[in-house]
Amino acid sequence: MRASLLLFSGIPLALAVSTSHSNSNEGYASVCAHIASDISSGSVYYPGSTQYEEMTHRYALSAGENSTCAVGPKTSWDVGRILRVVGSTRTPFAVQSGGHAQHRGFSSTRGVHISLRNFRSIVYNSTAKIVTIGTGLVWDEVYEALDPHGVSVAGGRVAGVGVGGLTLGGGNVTALELVKPNGEVVQVTEEGQPDLFFALRGGLNNFGIVTAITLKVFPQGPVWGGAIVYSDPAYFSKVAAATSRFTSQVTDPKANLLRGYSFSNGLVVQTAIILYDAPSPPPGVFDDFLKIPSIQNTITTQSFLSFFTKSSAGVPDVVPGIYVCSANFLQYLYYLLQASFKSSRLSFGTGITSKSKSLTFLGFTPEPFLSTILSHNTTPSAYPFTRSTAYCPMALSVGWADPADEAFFSGALKQITRSIEAALVAEGHGDVTAAPLYPNYAFGDTPVSRIYGSNLARMTEIKGRVDPKDVMGLTGGFKL
Ligand SMILES: Cc1cc2nc3c(=O)[nH]c(=O)nc-3n(C[C@H](O)[C@H](O)[C@H](O)COP(=O)(O)OP(=O)(O)OC[C@H]3O[C@@H](n4cnc5c(N)ncnc54)[C@H](O)[C@@H]3O)c2cc1C
Ligand SMILES: *[C@@H]1O[C@H](CO)[C@@H](O)[C@H](O)[C@H]1NC(C)=O
Ligand SMILES: *[C@@H]1O[C@H](CO)[C@@H](O)[C@H](O)[C@H]1NC(C)=O
Ligand SMILES: *[C@@H]1O[C@H](CO)[C@@H](O)[C@H](O)[C@H]1NC(C)=O
Repeated sequence: MRASLLLFSGIPLALAVSTSHSNSNEGYASVCAHIASDISSGSVYYPGSTQYEEMTHRYALSAGENSTCAVGPKTSWDVGRILRVVGSTRTPFAVQSGGHAQHRGFSSTRGVHISLRNFRSIVYNSTAKIVTIGTGLVWDEVYEALDPHGVSVAGGRVAGVGVGGLTLGGGNVTALELVKPNGEVVQVTEEGQPDLFFALRGGLNNFGIVTAITLKVFPQGPVWGGAIVYSDPAYFSKVAAATSRFTSQVTDPKANLLRGYSFSNGLVVQTAIILYDAPSPPPGVFDDFLKIPSIQNTITTQSFLSFFTKSSAGVPDVVPGIYVCSANFLQYLYYLLQASFKSSRLSFGTGITSKSKSLTFLGFTPEPFLSTILSHNTTPSAYPFTRSTAYCPMALSVGWADPADEAFFSGALKQITRSIEAALVAEGHGDVTAAPLYPNYAFGDTPVSRIYGSNLARMTEIKGRVDPKDVMGLTGGFKL
């Protein structure tokens, strides 16, 4: 049994992909043909072809739609040509990088599916200590390419997540290549295009399509880390106490903890994914976790690439249904979770139990960051709209096997999230509900004010200038 499996999977893969499609629309088909004749690189593919299947492949089938065609441009200029065609014909479209969005329409459409999979270049400049990477890559590929150089970048934590969505949902970049909604290709830096630089860091697909990003690299030596899985409820309070001590006392930026509370494979477990960015940790940092009896402990000294690969082992390539919700927390939330997340009572009295319909997975994954996390980067960005308090994001996710159960589980997950927020407000932490929600974890129908808050006015003004015809309104996601 692997921890990552428990965190992210437990979903039977037997129910996998259906390959026939029938929703093709005459009007969209002629737009697809128009695009095919307009672009000079890449091709347009139709349902039934291998290329179409590959280009529309996504993590959560529940977030998918059957597009009329899929197009895989190879240059930014061709991305611009496609945007001009879909814009002028008002054709719905999707932009897909890694395809890990968990809400329908975010990177899926019934119209034209634009796959960025051909944007795969990785150019490392060791003098400038930067790397420029295409948005068709997933983080696994980036870490693998940088590993031989002894450097890494701040990217995703789990295999398969795309460079595009994660970065535009709040990543730390130094430059971006943007195809504007009018088809123009521009380099966006803080100095050259401060408004777009602000808007793209968190603004997802509202301002155009990004084809490459530049990130700072940092030296990356061997790390000490792995996963510990606790399954005996008798020890859960000790795990909570260790977590609470870690969040209140450890200020060493090399120490990282990801906690998981999950139900998967018929088991309720708690996990601690632990990483110390050096070959061994100083005494005291993680000792409490190591002392508690566990059913699995994979902690060892290894390369970061190896740590990443092992932590992702068992994460499925595709799941039938999954939703994620987001809540903000500070350390006191652990007590709340601890009190509520018991084997017999999975979900705050919302009616989900381990026997509910086709439930495959239920998990809460709080990421306790240092309170200094937001102090490293002071350049304003769309997300987060305030840096005054470092709230930590917590992903709440639910997985199911039977498509008919989608509405039940989406409703239940939203209710769990509301219950957590209500409990926090009752405890006097009303500010938690006003804190920025992390766009990459927020539920699909979250009002954009909860995500962008006081930045909304500036983002809307920039959007009006860069996209006066609202071309990006033809694609799904959190729309301004
Ligand atoms: C198994 C799993 C593990 C995860 N782990 C992490 C994690 O470790 N850390 C974390 O922060 N998040 C994590 N997430 C959440 C993840 O960051 C978001 O789902 C993210 O948006 C996925 O990016 P993507 O490129 O794979 O998705 P996609 O579905 O391809 O894109 C997501 C959104 O971004 C838009 N978009 C993507 N690329 C571009 C582009 N180049 N230009 C314009 N718009 C674009 C899409 O249109 C879509 O609306 C995880 C999700 C899953 C399912
Ligand atoms: C896509 O098409 C398949 C086969 O026709 C169908 O089973 C599936 O429900 C469709 N998906 C959507 C989201 O319409
Ligand atoms: C790498 O960066 C250095 C310093 O900024 C610059 O002088 C050099 O031209 C870059 N190399 C390449 C190949 O772009
Ligand atoms: C994040 O951005 C800031 C400001 O641009 C920079 O100083 C810092 O090094 C960046 N961090 C990473 C990991 O790229």
